[in-house]
Amino acid sequence: MSAAVPPAMDPAAAGEMAREAAAWCALHGLVVGDRADQRSATVPGVGLVHAPFSLLPAHLPEPFWRQACELAPIFNELVDRVSMDGNFLQDALSKTRQVDDFTSRLLEIHRKMVEINKEENIRLGLHRSDYMLDSETSSLLQIELNTISASFPGLGSLVSDLHRTLIKQHGTLLGLEHKRVPANAANTQFAEALAQTWAEFNIDSAVIMMIVQPEERNMYDQYWLSKHLQDSHGITTIRKTLSQVEAEGQILPDGTLLVGGHKVAVVYYRAGYTPNDYPSEAEWSARLMMEQSSAVKCPSISYHLVGTKKIQQELAKPNVLERFLESKEEIDKVRKCFAGLWSLDDEEIIKTAVEKPELFVLKPQREGGGNNIYGLDLRETLVRLQKEGGDALAAYILMQRIFPKASLAYLVRGGVCHEGLAISELGIYGAYLRNKDKVVINEQSGYLMRTKVSSSDEGGVAAGFAVLDSLYLTGK
Ligand SMILES: Nc1ncnc2c1ncn2[C@@H]1O[C@H](COP(=O)(O)OP(=O)(O)O)[C@@H](O)[C@H]1O
Ligand SMILES: [Mg+2]
Repeated sequence: MSAAVPPAMDPAAAGEMAREAAAWCALHGLVVGDRADQRSATVPGVGLVHAPFSLLPAHLPEPFWRQACELAPIFNELVDRVSMDGNFLQDALSKTRQVDDFTSRLLEIHRKMVEINKEENIRLGLHRSDYMLDSETSSLLQIELNTISASFPGLGSLVSDLHRTLIKQHGTLLGLEHKRVPANAANTQFAEALAQTWAEFNIDSAVIMMIVQPEERNMYDQYWLSKHLQDSHGITTIRKTLSQVEAEGQILPDGTLLVGGHKVAVVYYRAGYTPNDYPSEAEWSARLMMEQSSAVKCPSISYHLVGTKKIQQELAKPNVLERFLESKEEIDKVRKCFAGLWSLDDEEIIKTAVEKPELFVLKPQREGGGNNIYGLDLRETLVRLQKEGGDALAAYILMQRIFPKASLAYLVRGGVCHEGLAISELGIYGAYLRNKDKVVINEQSGYLMRTKVSSSDEGGVAAGFAVLDSLYLTGK
């Protein structure tokens, strides 16, 4: 992402600043569970370590920032419209479902909801659209759109605060101005959107239920949202795993979801996006029960499906955006950020990818990092799947590989500062709330920068590839 190079520091100065920054993280709750401590993923307040972070914000030319922000409300609206077209979702994913059991299970729930004509009048989307700046074409291209469990609204806001604080203190020395780090209210804006959804639901005694994994080292990112919900809105959040929902949940005759004696206004998923979250049928029946209830689901099964990589690829086909958006200007803006995306029923593109695998990324229908296939593995996988025949290829999409320019960065992990060449990925959060015909919220809601050493293919922070970052706006 970085187009202008951030200032170089001598190692001693960088090390000293990293110590200061790590202390700031501890004091301000910019923390995650430490892998070294077994209990850190299950017992709050035990085994904390500062979240991995970049010492200085990644540089980004302001026009790209504005472009990404402008796209947020358009993507919010697009997700909503696509979600309402059940046939489009079922058709687009029909081949994938034959070969991908996880997608098939999600589609099954979706089909059941279509069959009973389930109406979701109140719809909440808390998305994050991720981009990289392609250095060859100098264009901002979308990596993916996350419609479920978009992480780091809580900690991401804190990284922006950290960077502003460090620059205020050391900026003159570094030649940086703190005002060029855009304010980032992702945490309060997401909490606000959840609170307004709760208000639209209009049952004072109801709670917000966060669906969590049984083990979660990123729990403080989630607790930040609960804290804002309680402090600023007086709303209680309960945390439940899918299996707890199955054990403690029921639907009352009027559709109300009752879990552990609490009426639930909003189900906010921070789990449920990977097959690992469904080790038995119990988790699937919990998912179905919540979907059948009157609680607002963030995301609903339809919103979840719109965020799959297959749908991203379908939307990039000619004349598909036109089905969902009227404004030519908006269509152009969205299309401009689409990288090359192909389904694997295209023999020509498979041939090209086998010849030049370094120019592509092969993606299965998975979320959470660590699933993509690159380089020689990509070639081998394509050749093998082609030989196997059948529909195996339908489990994947192929994407143009984006090459961001690398620049010098200081990545701090576990109290140690590493200097190296790094690339960044910009995530823009979007919040969308609708009640029937009334759009209550449709806005850009802060951002997240993630930076990783340029030699790494993958990007997840939780998965251990990247660090949290913010951004520094430059003139060009
Ligand atoms: N087209 C691409 N070009 C370059 N890197 C990519 C591309 N697509 C994905 N990546 C890298 O792989 C990571 C994971 O891919 P992504 O599509 O975001 O899947 P996930 O759902 O696992 O987050 C991204 O964060 C990014 O670093
Ligand atoms: Mg991603």
